[in-house]
Amino acid sequence: MISLVNVARSFGSVRALDNISLKIEAGTLLGIMGPGGAGKTTLCRIISGLIRPDAGVVFVAGTDMVLADAKTIQETQSRIGMQFQNNALFEHLTVLSNVVYPLQRLTALGEREIRTRALERLAMAALLGFENRLPSELSGGQRRRVALARACVTEPDILICDDPTAGLDPVTSRRILDMIAGIRYQAKNTVVIVSSDVLGLLSVCDRVALMWNGEVIVVDTPAAFSEHAHPKVRRFLEDARLPMGLD
Ligand SMILES: Nc1ncnc2c1ncn2[C@@H]1O[C@H](COP(=O)(O)OP(=O)(O)O)[C@@H](O)[C@H]1O
Ligand SMILES: [Mg+2]
Repeated sequence: MISLVNVARSFGSVRALDNISLKIEAGTLLGIMGPGGAGKTTLCRIISGLIRPDAGVVFVAGTDMVLADAKTIQETQSRIGMQFQNNALFEHLTVLSNVVYPLQRLTALGEREIRTRALERLAMAALLGFENRLPSELSGGQRRRVALARACVTEPDILICDDPTAGLDPVTSRRILDMIAGIRYQAKNTVVIVSSDVLGLLSVCDRVALMWNGEVIVVDTPAAFSEHAHPKVRRFLEDARLPMGLD
């Protein structure tokens, strides 16, 4: 389980997270939406222990991510897979080497087993045949899929995907969300996806949250969220539907 209580984090005078409290039960697929600057990336980075909050309590899989010793936090981090907003691929390494990397760093598996597991993940991400390419030789959607394969190759208990659909067309975006939902279905892990594909999130997630100005405004099931009366939720849903021409 992931639990945040009254978490705050500022960068200079910008309050990126403003007293956020959020519980994510184990095995949940949570979608997070919200405008740019709402604090979504900061939240992902706090959960994965990459940055510390200024105040508040963060528990991830039983570890106090603020007060635990460095070794305990590192152990917990090794159970978290993170897909970064900018993919953060190693540009000088091949696709296969990118996906192999976390297994080499975090597990004691032998070379052959590591290769097999990495290729399995590349197959899942429909990237077989691309394993010897460099990231610069891939399309945007393919790069996202490499980042996703790398984030989940260690079969992490918690998978955090920060905007894996950014800049993708609706069909490719939906394909990525379906792929993440498929990973969760198979691994039964806890998954957090930040995305601006609101309709996609509503259809694949167990719960969805709306962030705004450093706050979590609403967290609910997709059905309840779609009917939610909060004016920001209404506005957000209307904006999401219009470009798709569904109304
Ligand atoms: N490293 C940083 N340095 C300065 N400001 C930051 C930093 N990270 C985030 N911010 C600011 O915090 C706010 C929230 O950012 P972020 O969490 O990236 O939002 P989102 O992912 O929802 O777009 C924004 O105003 C952003 O400019
Ligand atoms: Mg972001």
